[in-house]
Amino acid sequence: MKIHNFSAGPCVLPKEVMLKASEAIMDFDNGLSLIEISHRSKPFVDVMEKARALALELLGLEGKGYKVLFLQGGASTQFLMVALNLLEKRAGYLNTGTWSDKAIKEARIFDDVYEVASSKDANYNYIPKGYDIPTEYHYFHCTSTNTIFGTQMQQFPDCTIPLVCDMSSDIFSRELDFSKFDLIYAGAQKNMGPAGTTLDGIKEDILGKVSRKIPSMMDYKVHIGKSSMYNTPPVFAVYVSMLTLQWLKDLGGIQAIEEINEKKATIMYSEIDINPLFKGFAVKKDRSKMNATFTLVNEDLRETFDTMWKEAGINGLNGHRSIGGYRASMYNALTLDSVKVLVEVMSELETKA
Ligand SMILES: Cc1ncc(COP(=O)(O)O)c(C=O)c1O
Repeated sequence: MKIHNFSAGPCVLPKEVMLKASEAIMDFDNGLSLIEISHRSKPFVDVMEKARALALELLGLEGKGYKVLFLQGGASTQFLMVALNLLEKRAGYLNTGTWSDKAIKEARIFDDVYEVASSKDANYNYIPKGYDIPTEYHYFHCTSTNTIFGTQMQQFPDCTIPLVCDMSSDIFSRELDFSKFDLIYAGAQKNMGPAGTTLDGIKEDILGKVSRKIPSMMDYKVHIGKSSMYNTPPVFAVYVSMLTLQWLKDLGGIQAIEEINEKKATIMYSEIDINPLFKGFAVKKDRSKMNATFTLVNEDLRETFDTMWKEAGINGLNGHRSIGGYRASMYNALTLDSVKVLVEVMSELETKA
């Protein structure tokens, strides 16, 4: 039976990528496995270089002063690395959910952090707008997609200070002018590969401006100087990320995947809106094309609905414990067919109920 994996991350990856990854586990270089060769060997150095080059190319950041890194510690480590490397006195953060909240908490360890706006008042079901970003802040941090609540920023502020963005949940999913951002980061485990590596795209000229001493493993400059090989990199996660980026390039890049993502989101949200048994969680204009959050209007139908989607081969549909209900994560590798299967189950429930 085909599994339709709607998990929020780790999540579905392209089948052809998994096939190549499993082959590399058995034989990557003359009978040696990818996970038993030296990370300093030419075959792996080539993988790292290709992964970094593909990311720069897909994001349209080549020749614009950016460096791409593949680091460890997840996006959660970026919460503190961003502050350690950029925060001197003051920074502004947009609080749009659990992950921004965590980023704020980590940065506050080092200096003053101001919430320029927050949507906590409505359990983060919208993206605040019309806020000011004082120019004396050292940077402004936002989260492009709030994985838990299913909201997504449709616009980003024009600011004169460095713009930093946690793009864990929607990197490579839609066309943006990525050169608007000075630092973007994203855990691999949604649109790129397995958990274990985090992508950073950093405009080099924003670094080296804080007076504090930065431990080597936390210092972007150290990692840039060593081409993401300051310590042993997570070879498997980087390799699979490279394969996924190549898959995306072969498909036609971000523009091509965005068209597919638009179709998936349109089908999904149309059903949520048309079917009287369901109610969307996020405010319509701020809905995420990656994570659709919704609830049953009548909780008595939960058992029936849960049985139906599980029988249809759907996996990972339960909402995050902080908001309950359901969450359909529609990352790049999730096919349009999988969304159609879910939507059919939802409309079948309406017929049954
Ligand atoms: C938007 C966002 N930021 C940060 C994180 C934390 O990522 P990690 O588990 O890689 O630290 C997540 C995890 O789902 C996320 O969705």
